[in-house]
Amino acid sequence: MITSQQLYDKLKDIQVGNPLCRFTEQSCEDLLPIIQRIEALKQEKNAIILAHNYVAPQILYGVADHMGDSYGLAKKARESNAEVIVFASVRFMAETAKILNPDKVVLDPNPDGGCTLADGITAEDVKNLRAKFPHHTFVCYINTTAEVKALCDTCVTSSNVYKVIERIKNDQIYFLPDRLMGENIKKYLKKNGVRKDIELYDGTCYVHEEYQPESVDQVRRNFSGVEILVHPECRPDVVDKADYIGSTSGMLNYVRESDQKTFFLLTECGLTGILESEFPDKQFVGTCTTCRYMKANSLENILNALEKPTSSNIIELDSNVQKNALSCVEKMFSYAES
Ligand code: 13P
Ligand code: SF4
Repeated sequence: MITSQQLYDKLKDIQVGNPLCRFTEQSCEDLLPIIQRIEALKQEKNAIILAHNYVAPQILYGVADHMGDSYGLAKKARESNAEVIVFASVRFMAETAKILNPDKVVLDPNPDGGCTLADGITAEDVKNLRAKFPHHTFVCYINTTAEVKALCDTCVTSSNVYKVIERIKNDQIYFLPDRLMGENIKKYLKKNGVRKDIELYDGTCYVHEEYQPESVDQVRRNFSGVEILVHPECRPDVVDKADYIGSTSGMLNYVRESDQKTFFLLTECGLTGILESEFPDKQFVGTCTTCRYMKANSLENILNALEKPTSSNIIELDSNVQKNALSCVEKMFSYAES
């Protein structure tokens, strides 16, 4: 179990939000009792905690067994021998863990953890689209509900989207729900000489759609040698200006391997916090926005979910939905891992 000094060493360089709001030795000491209770419950229940790169740093460094992007965490959920999986992220990620582990208990500490992408399309919408586009292969982003996945042929994440789409044999594809990611896919395929007819749904991520190309230009002017890292949920005219486009863990690896000292990340703040902790000699500049759904996770609601889960903490899926959604998710693994 982590000591308060080890926790402080991990958290002391994180300056997300107000520069005056830093973790102190005392605040880390104060976090220890709840961390100890969570660790004891993990042992008692044979549970693991998976935490997305965007959640609060005291979760990532205090209690998480694995942190990562949506693809990496889905893989961890798929490989896990634990009896209970607590997924600190948003609902669709916890649902994906349940799709992969129908016989395990999967707990979502933050049952109100929506996502503007996943909440923007229903199973009924997909049924209607399938009737309208009967010859298209339906590809969904992992940011969708289990019911939507159950009606799609394969899913993708930000770390494998280009690879999976390129490997699909059918030239007619319906991609949902992220319109901006879809526009980025179309541009990428055109640039690489791959001809596919791609229809798009009109969903967006409320965090990533806000970034403007002008802010990227301004940061380039003000910080010489800065490297710009962009998530593919951003607008194509923002993505065009990037040095690197990829998932949250892809960005982390890029920073780890880069010789540059200054970076501008166009993604949620939580990732910047991890980078500040892992690479204290590098500088992270520019705007930083938060996802209110990811930030609704806390040590307190993780403790409550482990100690006394309510029905809304426990992920339950209809058996048909689970079975069909599993074939959609497994199809992604077979494309991505080959
Ligand atoms: P990653 O898979 O890149 O972590 O993205 C998940 C997400 O919700 C981004 O907004
Ligand atoms: Fe959904 Fe956007 Fe939040 Fe990611 S950042 S979970 S896409 S709302």
